[in-house]
Amino acid sequence: MKILSEEWGKLPFAYHKTNYNVRCYFRNGKWGIVETSSSEQIVIHISATALHYGQTIFEGLKAFRGKDGKIRIFRWQNNWERMNLSARGILVPEVPREIFEEALRKVIALNEEYIPPYGTGASLYIRPLLVGTGAKLGVAPADEFLFTVFVSPVGPYFPTGFKCVDVKLVRDVDRAAPLGTGRYKIGGNYAASLASGAQAYADGFKMVLYLDAKEKKYLDECGPANFFGIKGNTYVTPDSSSILQSITNMSLRTLAEDIGMTVENRKVPVEELAEFEETGACGTAAVITPIKSIHDVEQNKIYTYPDKPGTQSVKLYSKLQAIQLGDENDKFGWVTEL
Ligand code: PLP
Ligand code: COI
Repeated sequence: MKILSEEWGKLPFAYHKTNYNVRCYFRNGKWGIVETSSSEQIVIHISATALHYGQTIFEGLKAFRGKDGKIRIFRWQNNWERMNLSARGILVPEVPREIFEEALRKVIALNEEYIPPYGTGASLYIRPLLVGTGAKLGVAPADEFLFTVFVSPVGPYFPTGFKCVDVKLVRDVDRAAPLGTGRYKIGGNYAASLASGAQAYADGFKMVLYLDAKEKKYLDECGPANFFGIKGNTYVTPDSSSILQSITNMSLRTLAEDIGMTVENRKVPVEELAEFEETGACGTAAVITPIKSIHDVEQNKIYTYPDKPGTQSVKLYSKLQAIQLGDENDKFGWVTEL
């Protein structure tokens, strides 16, 4: 499905068929070779652990085309490390670095025509997936696994793009427990967020903000992204054992320090929402999505922020994008040029 030049700038964040994906199987205790496939289907055993017992890990990263025509992948090594953290967490074999890198390079090269041109605001979203394909009936890890990577050209996660959204603070659902699986990027965490996300959407909100599951006192994260708040010259972001360690958030913390801001990564009490001048959600898909209001419906409280992206958020957003696109020197060594 070829994309016409006028369509690049209007792409949604959605699956778009491309030419190929790549696959590698773990069988008999070892990983095989990275194969190419033009099929969008995978054949999976009816009793596979991915289907029954949630042995389903995924990652998300992006490749960008620069003004110079070069293709750049952002911080893939961190996605590889996080995928293997998830793998250790739910007893899936780790994917060797060489296989992860080969799969990325191959899938991008094979789908080069789907890498959005510079200046369109779109990028190539890369989705590695690692699932238990072996059959088990009792609760146990599989013996066979599939590591596959597909890509999709995408626009902004929220159709509004870099515009402020309204967020619902959720108190009646926990996404993940403190000693549970929140820090792993596994399917079950997203299943746990679907009902509250759909309810929030029906209530007119674009996103959900979860609290810590134990005390309901501190901010955890948003449905598909980490949370940050800015007061004065300080970038504040929650520290919690039940949130995903966002690579975008790590990058923003570094960039914030680099432009002379103070960074605080600590427990953030709900009431502190009243002290922030800017708030936002950050992630690969969300990039920075600024927030204009957070509704604590149960407590009948609304925290409001400017309805235009704030100065510091704009600064951080521009710096991050400039590095990803190759417009600014990659002084932190985050980018792999292909
Ligand atoms: N938190 C959750 C629950 C996510 O799904 C994501 C998306 O990957 C993030 C945070 C942001 O992480 P990253 O910046 O590594 O994409
Ligand atoms: C990402 O930002 O890569 C995500 O995984 C978020 C969402 C699409 C689940």
